[in-house]
Amino acid sequence: MLRRATKFVHRDISRVSCVRCIHANPLLGYEESDRRTPLHAPIAPATVTDRTYGGISDQDRIFTNLYADQSPFIDDAMKRGDWYQTKEILDMGRDWIVNEVKISGLRGRGGAGFPSGLKWSFMPKVSDGRPHYLVINGDESEPGTCKDREILRNEPHKLVEGALIAGFAMGAHKAYIYLRGEFWKEINVLQRAVDEAYAKGFLGKNAMGSGWDYDIYVHRGAGAYICGEETGMIESIEGKQGKPRLKPPFPANVGLYGCPTTVTNVETVAVAPTICRRGGAWFAGMGRKNNSGTKLFAVSGDVNKPCVVEDEMSIPLKDLIEKHCGGVIGGWDNLQAIIPGGSSVPNLNKQQCEVALMDFDGLMSLGSGLGTAAVIVMNKQQDMIKMIQRLAYFYKHESCGQCTPCREGAKWLNDIMTRMVQGRADTREIDMLWDITKQIEGHTICALGDAAAWPVQGLIRNFRPEMLERITEYQTRHGMIQEKIAAKVTKELYATHDHDNAKNAIPVVRYWQ
Ligand SMILES: Cc1cc2nc3c(=O)[nH]c(=O)nc-3n(C[C@H](O)[C@H](O)[C@H](O)COP(=O)(O)O)c2cc1C
Ligand code: SF4
Repeated sequence: MLRRATKFVHRDISRVSCVRCIHANPLLGYEESDRRTPLHAPIAPATVTDRTYGGISDQDRIFTNLYADQSPFIDDAMKRGDWYQTKEILDMGRDWIVNEVKISGLRGRGGAGFPSGLKWSFMPKVSDGRPHYLVINGDESEPGTCKDREILRNEPHKLVEGALIAGFAMGAHKAYIYLRGEFWKEINVLQRAVDEAYAKGFLGKNAMGSGWDYDIYVHRGAGAYICGEETGMIESIEGKQGKPRLKPPFPANVGLYGCPTTVTNVETVAVAPTICRRGGAWFAGMGRKNNSGTKLFAVSGDVNKPCVVEDEMSIPLKDLIEKHCGGVIGGWDNLQAIIPGGSSVPNLNKQQCEVALMDFDGLMSLGSGLGTAAVIVMNKQQDMIKMIQRLAYFYKHESCGQCTPCREGAKWLNDIMTRMVQGRADTREIDMLWDITKQIEGHTICALGDAAAWPVQGLIRNFRPEMLERITEYQTRHGMIQEKIAAKVTKELYATHDHDNAKNAIPVVRYWQ
């Protein structure tokens, strides 16, 4: 593989590393010694598959009211099977529930994909006197991500029932469901569902006659992306600014109000009752190994029918778009790139989209990630540089400012990207941009820093020629020679309007005057 890479770049290779493609042919990342920007790694098939995934039957669907065919409230919810045998599940005990979730192979649906059963098992078995808390993450503020919203407004009882089961399994008597403030309708629907559950005796003292007291509080956020980060969320519930905490200590030891806490995503919790009813093995039977179950995919952008749909994990990306979304606007050949997991993950070029499987390992093997499974499709009519600049602006705006690499770096990314949209840059700044992303990535308290870096990295990896072309075109149009600019590093070149370039035109600067 190294031999192949060397032949490809005709340069010395400074660093080679495995990109964790454990199921497929060997796939390496590499960097040239004199330029720190990696070129395309050869595309390996995302995975070896024994069958084509996707196209689950209605019987295997967990979210049967995703499209609001029926009322979200308790009578219809119970007809759909919610709250069925919940007491029997609780009677099986904490360990049984955690074990069943482990068997299911469920990985957190909030973005990181951490195994849920394992995470739940981190909560102390025996209380040291401090209460335990479950915090359910419904902040959902990432661009493109809109799957939890459908659960909240159409299937709230799955979440409320899941909160009881998951909280009980963690030894918690209280759950906070944290929703972004803008989800006004969803907050009201969820609150009514919680009230209905209390009225039926499913929550409160001796919930469902289980002998376990359980309360749920619906908590409204004020609309900040960073409050979706688990410790930022804990701070926010405590009434402080949503600034992430340094870890360790981890929330399972010191979380909300200094007590053992698990923060977990809405979808993760909402699938737990069905897993317990149907058995972990049923869930594990769908999707590839280590990527099991069904998943809500939210597809937006340049597709004919944007939608949120439940299907099997590991479904090919192309099938997801063609079968559920009516295809790419202008046809598959008009596809330019796809961000497969919410705005934080690097984009895939068309070639990669052809082979991508929608699961954690498949997308990681292509240098991207499943994230929240929010698929953003961009056809050839879109300006990729502008798309990524808009995301850079978002991350700059949402940085909480605690860590220097994120606070300063996200601003620099946005500033440079703003000029790159026009081509008002030096070609060497593409590598500088890459360097900045590397200074941010892995050097911050929370993953927002990585999230700011990765979209820009994806752009450079896949659209470097387009960036070069944009710069050359600008220089040609303005009669500029790059060396002259470099010699005269002008204030004008680096003066950047610190605002959203998508909305404000930047005046053209004539460097030769
Ligand atoms: C900036 C930032 C924003 C996040 N936003 C969300 C969110 O809106 N919803 C969510 O479930 N997880 C979000 N996460 C991930 C959470 O920190 C946490 O990993 C997740 O809620 C765990 O749930 P899970 O184990 O069910 O995946 C965010 C993380 C970061 C760094
Ligand atoms: S990475 Fe950014 S958002 Fe996260 S704590 Fe640091 S400054 Fe705040």
